[in-house]
Parts: sequence; C-alpha cells; structure tokens
Amino acid sequence: MAERVKLGYVGCGFMAQKVHLPNFISIPECELVAIAEVRPRLGGMVRDRLRIPTLYASHEELAADPDIDAVAVSAGFSLQGDIARDLLAAGKHVFMEKPMAVSVAQAEAMVDAADASGKILMVGYMKRYDAGNVLMRDQLRQFRETGELGDQTYARNHGFCGDWICNLDTPMDSTDEKMPGAPAMAPEWLPDEWVGPYLGYLQQYTHNVNLLRYFLDAGDDARVRVVDLDDDGYSGVTIFDMAGTRVVLETGGVSHYRWDEHTQVYFRHGWVHTWAPPLLLKNTPAEVEIYRGGEEQVISRPVAKPRWTWAYRREAEHFIERVAAGKPVDSSGADTLTDVRLFEDIYRIFLEGNLGTKLA
Ligand SMILES: NC(=O)c1ccc[n+]([C@@H]2O[C@H](COP(=O)([O-])OP(=O)(O)OC[C@H]3O[C@@H](n4cnc5c(N)ncnc54)[C@H](O)[C@@H]3O)[C@@H](O)[C@H]2O)c1
Repeated sequence: MAERVKLGYVGCGFMAQKVHLPNFISIPECELVAIAEVRPRLGGMVRDRLRIPTLYASHEELAADPDIDAVAVSAGFSLQGDIARDLLAAGKHVFMEKPMAVSVAQAEAMVDAADASGKILMVGYMKRYDAGNVLMRDQLRQFRETGELGDQTYARNHGFCGDWICNLDTPMDSTDEKMPGAPAMAPEWLPDEWVGPYLGYLQQYTHNVNLLRYFLDAGDDARVRVVDLDDDGYSGVTIFDMAGTRVVLETGGVSHYRWDEHTQVYFRHGWVHTWAPPLLLKNTPAEVEIYRGGEEQVISRPVAKPRWTWAYRREAEHFIERVAAGKPVDSSGADTLTDVRLFEDIYRIFLEGNLGTKLA
C-alpha cells in the first residue's frame, strides 16, 4: 500500500467531533497525526479520547509541523478562511468547512495562496458527494446530451431547513472555555447592521447555490437576476441565470422534524427531482425521481449506488484520495469563488434594489 496521508485537524468543535474527525480516522489511507485547538482543555479531552498523538495550541503551530501533508479545518465562519490561507501558505493541502470565505477579497487571497503553493484547497460541499446527488447530476448530463426530454427549461431549489442533527449520538466533549473572538469580517461595502443577516443567509444557502451550479454544470457561468427577500435578509426568493437556465432559490424556515429541501430540474418533457436527507442523518443519500413525459409517461425512482452512504464520509474519502493521487478535487476553492461572488451580488441587489440603501 502507498504511504498514508498524514493529516492534521484544526478546530475541535461540533463539526470536528460529530462528523469529520470520526470520518477521517476511519479511512485506512489517512493517518490523523495531530490536532490544533485554541481552547486547551477541550483540545486535551479530544486528543485523549481519540488517542491523537499531538495537540497544538494554534493552527500556526500545526502549520509548522513538517510531517503533516494535509489539514482539515472547521472554525467560525469568518475565521476559517484565514486559517485555510495560512495553512496553504505553509505548504499544506487543505480541506475546509463552508463557507469558504465571507467576502470575495478573502476568497481571492485563499485561491492565490493555493495557486502559489500548488496545493489542493477543497471546500466541504458534502452535497456534491451525496450518492443521490451524483446520480441526479449524471442523469441531468445524460438528458442534456441526448435531448431525450427536450430542452432544459427551469430549475428550483426549495430550502426551508428543519432538524439537521437527527439525534446523532456520536460522542462529543465540551468545556466552558471562552470561544476565540472572531472579527466580524464581511465585504467592505456592507453596512455593519447587515453583517449578521448576510452571514446567516450566506452560511445556510451557500450549500444550495453550490449544488445548483453542480447540477447544471454551470461553473462560473452564473449571475443573479432578481432578489426578493423580506426585511430579515433571509426569507424569500432569489432568481439566477445558470448556464442559460432560469434557477429559483426559495429560502425560509419551517419547524420540521426532518429537512425540508428539494431540487427539481425541468426539461420540456419531464424532470429530475431530488429530496435532500437531513444533513447529519448518517448513510442516507438523497432520493431521486425521474419523470419521462411523452407517450409512455413513466415515473421512476432509481436507487443511488453505492447504497447507504453518508455524504460527509464520501467527501472525506474524496479529499484523501485526491491528495494521495495529486489530482484536482470536485469542490475546489477556485470553483467556490463563484458562490462567494454570487452572495455579494445578492446582498448588493437586496440592499440597493429592495431596501433602497445607498451603498459605498
Ligand atoms: N457542512 C455542513 O453541513 C456544516 C454544518 C454545520 C457547520 N458547518 C461549518 O462548520 C464550521 C464550524 O462549525 P462548528 O459548529 O464545528 O463550530 P464550533 O464553534 O463548534 O467549533 C470551532 C472550533 O474551532 C476552534 N478554533 C477557532 N479558531 C482556531 C484556531 N485558530 N486554531 C485552532 N482552533 C481554533 C474553536 O475553539 C472551536 O472549538 C462553521 O464554519 C460552519 O459553517 C458546516
């Protein structure tokens, strides 16, 4: 067997303990050699429970360890982009949680750091690694190529959220240590009173926008057409153009015991529809329905292969496999820059167009 990828992990909070650390530890091609946590008691508890050889007091100390090939990061929304940039500059491959960045300026500095070091920057859009979503994307590509259902006419993602944790019983340590202060970074032009709502909308719906671009193979061919959000800067409708197709994103909330999210892509003579699982419900891929109109009128529900897999586990496998092979990833920082740009555009249109705010 080739040498295992030596992995470090920065930030030992909720996502690390509940999701990423157990996943990386369970991958045979990965060796978790060190963690970094600025809250020392928490770091010690996680190190001892998971038997990790080394605990560092900060990401800078971990970045200086020459034996580490790659690092995974999950920290506050505004913090983790700068941590990822420092790790790339230190010559590490990086997997990081979303959102990649809270401004285009921050995201560009990260992509520049990845380009300069020649290392991988992968953003944790686990929906791209959900076996049901991969099936949906492959089916959509096939319909676009063959023209079997006619032209692609419309796409929508409805995302009202709900219970995303689903009683996940993976053990977790916690302490009463103070969280590190995060500067409330945001685009320079954004008025202070809108930083909170902007971060709330961005951190939730960056998943959905990223997924829609993936389904439509849109790459950077995406722009915002219309924004109609309530005064909360969160609930409403945003309309995009992605690769020439009108795409509608419905955002809001409902107190739902599951996760109220589905995506539908229409063709002239049918559709492909997918229902997202609650995020932390393990080993449950998205469900897919295909409707073929015309003479036959067939509705089918193909089952994703491999069956019973977890999107977060598959994204961790993807990162380790691509680092080992030296190949590009399916959710790179360079690709994600488009999402960061779209969210700045949404909020500019919302504040200027909907609310009539004069922006600098
Ligand atoms: N993909 C998803 O579905 C999903 C779901 C939830 C959260 N997230 C993302 O995960 C990220 C983390 O969320 P969380 O709930 O785990 O946060 P958290 O606050 O529970 O954990 C973050 C940890 O990082 C530590 N930390 C901060 N700066 C550090 C540094 N410089 N060096 C070392 N440790 C540092 C903090 O002390 C804390 O323990 C967020 O950005 C969020 O957007 C993603």
